[in-house]
Amino acid sequence: MATVTFDHVWKKYGEVTAVEDLSLEIHDGEFMVLVGQSGCGKTTSLRMIAGLEEITQGDLKIGDKVVNDVAPKDRDIAMVFQSYALYPHMSVRENLSFGLKLRKVGKVEIEKRINDAAGILQLEKLLERKPKELSGGQRQRVALGRAIVREPAVFLMDEPLSNLDAKLRVQTRAEIARLHQRLGTTMVYVTHDQVEAMTMGQRIAVMSDGLLQQVGTPQELYDRPKNKFVAGFIGSPSMNFVTMPVGAGDSMTAGGFTFPISENYKNTIASAGVQVTAGFRPEHLEMGEVTGLFGQLTGKADVVEYLGNEELLHVSVGDHDIVALVDSSYRVRPGDQVTLRLPVEKLHLFNIESGAALAH
Ligand SMILES: Nc1ncnc2c1ncn2[C@@H]1O[C@H](COP(=O)(O)OP(=O)(O)O)[C@@H](O)[C@H]1O
Ligand SMILES: [Mg+2]
Repeated sequence: MATVTFDHVWKKYGEVTAVEDLSLEIHDGEFMVLVGQSGCGKTTSLRMIAGLEEITQGDLKIGDKVVNDVAPKDRDIAMVFQSYALYPHMSVRENLSFGLKLRKVGKVEIEKRINDAAGILQLEKLLERKPKELSGGQRQRVALGRAIVREPAVFLMDEPLSNLDAKLRVQTRAEIARLHQRLGTTMVYVTHDQVEAMTMGQRIAVMSDGLLQQVGTPQELYDRPKNKFVAGFIGSPSMNFVTMPVGAGDSMTAGGFTFPISENYKNTIASAGVQVTAGFRPEHLEMGEVTGLFGQLTGKADVVEYLGNEELLHVSVGDHDIVALVDSSYRVRPGDQVTLRLPVEKLHLFNIESGAALAH
């Protein structure tokens, strides 16, 4: 097992900066997820760990050792890609053993590792089949198996579930999480899907435009996003954002919105300028008038999406389309006038220019 450390790592392709000054410490045995939109530098970061991309500047360490100049084959890592190219003419068993034979691992040892991996991934009955005789999910398990038999110090996975259909993705997600619990090996897992990140990661590193935005546990990112980007990226449906003028009083009011300013924001809000961005999650809005310390908004429900136990409301408040997730027993109808309230502790405030969360 091993730690992986990025120490002020840069990757440039000519004029394009793919990864900018990345410092990140991945702990021994940790399941770390790198998440962000397409093009934000996830694959490049992973490929630098694998040794498949040269590092422009900075140090990459596996354990205590700087590996910038260590060849991929000497790094003790195994990588699973989105396109899990199996050898079509080889059986599952041969696909699993191929890499080990190249590495001159002994016959008995190969046999043992294949049996272990097949047991973990439930491939025992499929060992003599060819890839074309397998379903997509089974093929993906073979690709995982090929990484497992290597017994690497670090697993790298680049969007390994994106070719699977929705149901299989949820299943395989759980399988990979179980695999990690069982092996306890350091894993770095790349995805653009924040739900995958939230459900699988022990910690999550959110990237945007080559820049690391925040690292933390799923709950830290959800409860205390450091900036507007992370706030909007983590959570589904996304956080609502509204520009609010900062007044002198105990509350902020603008076109259908009123938010009290809680004590813990009073100091920082004064220095934030004349406007701030207010953010609040759809699931934190509640139906009903204000009593006590709540924010409030009033508008017209344009669209109501019934989800069974909950319903998703699209409410026009002035120029804003606000999304709220409420109990479906309210039976809101399109066109209804609704008043929603927000517990004051669920309000996030961001600097309108930098997007940084205001201290509270
Ligand atoms: N070989 C390359 N040559 C030039 N630019 C590249 C190369 N590989 C990636 N990039 C650029 O680097 C940025 C990050 O890419 P990548 O790491 O693949 O993003 P992600 O995996 O997050 O979608 C993108 O702007 C991409 O176009
Ligand atoms: Mg990628």
